[in-house]
Amino acid sequence: MCGIVGYIGFRQAFPILIDGLHKLEYRGYDSAGCALISDVDGKANIYKAKGKVSDLEQKTNNHDCSGTSGIAHTRWATHGIPNETNAHPHTSQTRNIILVHNGIIENYTILKEQLQQKGYSFETETDTEVLVQLIQYTMDTVPGCQLDVAVRLALKKVIGAYAIVAVDAKNPNQLVCARKSSPLAIGIGADNKEFFIASDASPIAQYTKQMVYLNDGEIAVCERGKELHVFNLDNEDIDPEIKEVNIDLTMLSKEGFPHFMLKEIFDQPNVLKDCMSGRVIKDGDNYRVKLSAVENHKAELVDAKRIIIVSCGTSWHAGLIGKQLIEHFCRIPVEVAYASEFRYSDAVIGKGDVVIAISQSGETADTMAAIELAKNHGAFIFGIVNAVGSSIARMSDSGTYIHVGPEIGVASTKAFTGQITVLVMLALSLGMAKGTVKQSECNEVLQELTNIPEKICKVLTQNDKIHSLAQTFTYARNFLYLGRGWNYPVALEGALKLKEISYIHAEGYPAAEMKHGPIALIDSEMPVVFIATHHQLYQKIISNMQEIVSRNGRILAIVSENDEQVKGIAKDVIEIPQTINCLVPLLSVIPLQLLSYHVAVAKGLDVDQPRNLAKSVTVE
Ligand code: AGP
Repeated sequence: MCGIVGYIGFRQAFPILIDGLHKLEYRGYDSAGCALISDVDGKANIYKAKGKVSDLEQKTNNHDCSGTSGIAHTRWATHGIPNETNAHPHTSQTRNIILVHNGIIENYTILKEQLQQKGYSFETETDTEVLVQLIQYTMDTVPGCQLDVAVRLALKKVIGAYAIVAVDAKNPNQLVCARKSSPLAIGIGADNKEFFIASDASPIAQYTKQMVYLNDGEIAVCERGKELHVFNLDNEDIDPEIKEVNIDLTMLSKEGFPHFMLKEIFDQPNVLKDCMSGRVIKDGDNYRVKLSAVENHKAELVDAKRIIIVSCGTSWHAGLIGKQLIEHFCRIPVEVAYASEFRYSDAVIGKGDVVIAISQSGETADTMAAIELAKNHGAFIFGIVNAVGSSIARMSDSGTYIHVGPEIGVASTKAFTGQITVLVMLALSLGMAKGTVKQSECNEVLQELTNIPEKICKVLTQNDKIHSLAQTFTYARNFLYLGRGWNYPVALEGALKLKEISYIHAEGYPAAEMKHGPIALIDSEMPVVFIATHHQLYQKIISNMQEIVSRNGRILAIVSENDEQVKGIAKDVIEIPQTINCLVPLLSVIPLQLLSYHVAVAKGLDVDQPRNLAKSVTVE
C-alpha cells in the first residue's frame, strides 16, 4: 500500500526522501511525489510522477530540490485513478498546508460537500485532498490555530484510517504526524536535531535505532532541537515509548540476487534457524520448546475450548497447516477464518476462546479488525507476526515473532515457512503442556525440525532444473495445483504464488475434489502440479494422477526422494528429501516458490512489485 517518508533536520532532505521511497517500493504503488521546503524562502517545491520512484527522480532533474525538511509518498490508488494530479503530496487551497496520507477517509464525500459550500474548491478525486482542506479550513476559522492544533481538530471529524505527515510552508520548522489504523514510525536523531518519519522502520534504520511507533489516535510534532511531542485527539499529552529497533540492514538489500523474492527463497535455511534459535532446546537426550509467550499464558492457551485462526492470503494458508498441527498435537478444535469474512460475521465467540492472528506485516486491516471483534467478545488474542513492533503485535494479548527478517518481495515466501515453523513449535509446546504429546514424539518432531534448514538447502540445489522447467510453462493460461492432507494448503499456496507474480490463472484444490468439477478443465494445454510426497493418502493421490493422465493432462509432480511410482506417470518430477508428515509443507512449498518465480521472470514480469498488489494491505 502507500508509503510515507518525511525528514526534518540539518541534512538535505531530498536524498533521504528518495532513498526512503525506494525502500518502501516493495509495498506496491502506482505513483510517487515529494515536497521540499526551501530553507531560503520557505517556498514548497512539489514534484509528482505517475509510475515509479525513478520516474519521480527524472522529473526532478535540473529542478530545485534543496531544503532540510520535506515529505514524500508512494500512492496505491483507491480514490481516483493513478495519475500526477491524484498523486501525493496534496496541498490546501492556499498552497500552504501540504500533506501525505496513507489510508482512507471514509466520510470524505460529506466533508467535501461541507467544504465546497464554504467556498473551498477541489482539484483531485482523492479523499486526501479533503483532509488537507479541512486542516486549512480549521486554521482559517479558529483564531491563532497552528498546524498541530488544526490537525487534531480536523482528525476529530474524520472517520476512517490514516497515517499522515503535514507541513505548513509558513512554519517549515515542524512536521506534524498522526496515525489511526495505518502504521507510522518516527526515528529520533541525536539530541533531537533531526527526525525521520516512515510507514515502517526500513527507510529509517540506517540513520537511527531510536524509534517511536505512534498508536491509534496519536499526533506527534517533530521540531528540530526539541523533544518529540506526542498528544492524543483529546489533547492529552502522551509520554512516547522510545524503542531501540535493530534491523539487519543486509535484509534490506538484494545481496547480489536479481530480485528480493529469489533472495528471500534462498534466505529460508538461515532464517528458519533464526526462528528456532533459543526456542528449540535440547536438554540431554530430550528436546523441548521454549516460547515465553506460551509459558506466560499457559492457562489461557492450554484450557482453550476452541482456537480460531484469522489471517489473509499466504498467512491464511499457514493457518490451515496450523489447524492440522494443533488438532493433531493438542486435540483442541481449530477453525480457520478469512479475517475479511470473520470481521463481519456473527461469530459465536467468547471467553475461553483463543484467536490466533497470523500476519507477516502485522498491519493487515482485515486481520486487525478481526482481532478487534474477537477482543470485544472476550477472546484471548495470540499473534504470530513477523514485523517487529507492528500493530498486530501490539494489539495481541500475547504472541510470538517469526523472526525471519524483513520480507520485501510482495510474494510471501520466507514468512510462510517461518509461520509454519512457529506453528509447529506452538503446537508441540501446548501439546506437551496439555499432556497430549509424548516426550518421544516431541523429540522426533523437534529433532527433524532442526534438520529442515539443511533439507531446504538440498531442495534449493534444484534451482537450475526448476528454472529450465519453468521456461516450458510460460505458454500456459491456467494451472491446477493439487495436494491432500498436509499438502493441500501447499497446493493453495503454490497456486497463489503463481497467479500473484506470473498473472497466470491458477487454482489450488484438494486432489480428490478434482472429480467434483475441475476435472472438466483438463486437456493437454493445462499443466497440473501434484504435490505427491510419501505420506498420508499417497496411493490415493496416485489414482488422482492417473485420472489426469487419461485425459491428456500434463503433470508436474513434487515427490519424495527415490519415488519410483510417480516417475512412471508424471511428465516432470521434482524430488524433495524425506521428512515426517507434519513437516512436509516446509519442503514441498520450496519448489513451488521457485517455479512461480522462474515462470514470472521468463515472462519478463516485475517479480518483486507485481501489478495491482501491495505488500501490506492496510485498507479494506
Ligand atoms: C502473499 O504472497 C500475499 N502477498 C498476500 O496474500 C499476503 O499473504 C496477505 O495480504 C496477508 O498479509 P500479512 O501476512 O502481512 O497479514
